[in-house]
Amino acid sequence: MLRSRHELILNWKRFFMEDAREKDIREKDTYEKALEAARFLRAKLPAIPEALVVLGSGLGAFADTLERRVAVDYRQIPHLPASTVVGHYGRQVCGYVGDRCVAAMQGRFHFYEGYSLQQATFYLRVAKLLGIEKVILTNAAGGIDPTLAPGDLMLIEDHINLMAANPLQGLNDERFGARFPDLTDAYDPAYRALAQEAAAQLGIPLKVGVYAALLGPSYETPAEIRMIRSFGAHAVGMSTVPETIVARHMGMRVLGLSCITNSAAGVLDQPINHDEVLEVGQQAATRLIALLNAVIARM
Ligand code: HPA
Repeated sequence: MLRSRHELILNWKRFFMEDAREKDIREKDTYEKALEAARFLRAKLPAIPEALVVLGSGLGAFADTLERRVAVDYRQIPHLPASTVVGHYGRQVCGYVGDRCVAAMQGRFHFYEGYSLQQATFYLRVAKLLGIEKVILTNAAGGIDPTLAPGDLMLIEDHINLMAANPLQGLNDERFGARFPDLTDAYDPAYRALAQEAAAQLGIPLKVGVYAALLGPSYETPAEIRMIRSFGAHAVGMSTVPETIVARHMGMRVLGLSCITNSAAGVLDQPINHDEVLEVGQQAATRLIALLNAVIARM
């Protein structure tokens, strides 16, 4: 039935106000949801993991090398989204490197999958409430700097957020951290030194550089890569930056490692494809696993 203009406007107002109120509640609820997920994991896991290792595209093999593994599907964990990308399993594997218990995320959540950055980084809120303070973020990245070749490992010394979004947007929950967190030394200087030491001892070449994150999922254009290079970035990808911001918001210490899986667009006269990204990631995984083991033993 046709309603009066006045009634329609009232309904619109009610609709939008309710939406804002619901959003408010949802954001305030994150802490309680994370607590619920952390309690669930605490009951499942053999111990509180010392570190969380996030495995990027094609880099999932590390989780399979853990001893005394316990795997939990993301779908089982309360409030966790499901991973939708090929090359990402979508499960958390908890196990041991020597006597150190770690939790490895086989697959992460990306902004380009349609999740909000708050949803995509929710698992870090859970990790923090579970008692984890150390985070290792790995990713597959395109090499912008001409010294970076496919297969190279790069220690992230800093990042540039080109996602035009921030996971801390919205209400701040002081139980997690401050409204305006500092990102100087977002990638822990002591962890960086320790990773370089470990790499040198193992004879694994480890480059050092700045990682720029874009929304994706399309790869960049050559013109975009020229722009990003002029900004001071050495590698480019579609993840890690939101996770680092959220981890630092909660005072967690972060180590970032990129596996260069391809030369970024226009660096070579070659198109980029995801299958190649996965393949090179898988080839580099052996070196990455050795490095991760050595780093974890030293953390
Ligand atoms: N660009 C963005 N993300 C990527 C790339 C790239 O070239 N390679 C792997 N992830």
